[in-house]
Amino acid sequence: MRAYSSHKDIIKLVNKVDSVGLVPTMGSLHEGHLSLIRKALMENEKVIVSIYVNPMQFDNSSDLKKYPRNIKNDLQKLESFSDIFVYTPNDNDIYKKKEKKKKYNFSQFTKIMEGAIRPGHFDGVATVVEKLLRMFNPCNAYFGEKDFQQLILIKTLVKELKLKVNIIGCKTIREDDGLAMSSRNKLLSIKERKIARNIIRLLKKAKQLYKNSTLKETKSEIFKDAKLIKNLNLEYFEILDLSMISDFLEEEEEIRAFIACKVGKIRLIDNIII
Ligand code: PAF
Repeated sequence: MRAYSSHKDIIKLVNKVDSVGLVPTMGSLHEGHLSLIRKALMENEKVIVSIYVNPMQFDNSSDLKKYPRNIKNDLQKLESFSDIFVYTPNDNDIYKKKEKKKKYNFSQFTKIMEGAIRPGHFDGVATVVEKLLRMFNPCNAYFGEKDFQQLILIKTLVKELKLKVNIIGCKTIREDDGLAMSSRNKLLSIKERKIARNIIRLLKKAKQLYKNSTLKETKSEIFKDAKLIKNLNLEYFEILDLSMISDFLEEEEEIRAFIACKVGKIRLIDNIII
C-alpha cells in the first residue's frame, strides 16, 4: 500500500497495468469497505482506493463537519494490502476554485427517498464519482448496496455518459446483530447503538408481513412499530418494485424495502430484498 495526494502520481503508476479497479470511499474504513477492496483485488491487477470526504454531497454543513474522519487509522487498515494505491486528495486536487456541483437529470429513481430528503446530494455524489472515473479510467468500480439508490445513480451515469467502466454492486456487510456497516455507526452512543438494531428488525418484519399482507398494511404496521421505539425517528419506509430499473438488477430481486431513520441525531439508511 502507498498513499498519494496527487492523482497524477497514481496515473503514472497504473499507466501500463492491464486492469485497474477503483474503490471510492469517504474513509473511516470498516469491514464493508474492506470487502469491496478484497473483491476489487481479486478482479483487477491493481486497485485504487480513494479516501475523500466530498463536501459537495453534504446538504448540511453540520453533517459534513461531524462526518467521522480518521485517515491515520484508515491507512493502518490498508497497510497489509499489496497492489493498492490509496488516493487521499485535498479539495484542490478534485475541484477548481469556486467550482459548483454539476446538475444531472438522470433516473427518476434518484428523485425519491434520499433524493427527496437530501436535495443536491446525488448531484454531489455524481459530480465526484464522474471526476474519479474520468481521472483514473478504471476497468471496474465498486460500490456497496447499502446505498442502493447511489449504486443505481452511478450505473445510470456511466450508461448516459458512455463511460467504459463496469460498475459492480457489492452486498451489504452487517454487524453480528444485523446492523448494516456504515462509517456513521461510529457516531452512535452505546444506547443508540442498541436502538439501531431495530432497523434490520423492521426490514425483516416487513419481509415477513408482506408475504400475507398488502403494501399498505405492511407499511402501516411498520410505521406503527417504529413510532413506539424511543429515540428512533423514521424518515421514510418504502417497499418498491424495481422492475422499472431492471436493466441494472443482478438477480430476480425485484422488490426491495428501504428505510431511513434518525437514531438520536445520527441518520442511518438500509435496505433488503423482500
Ligand atoms: O458512498 C460513499 O462513500 C460516497 O458517496 C462516494 C461514492 C465515495 C462518493 O463520495
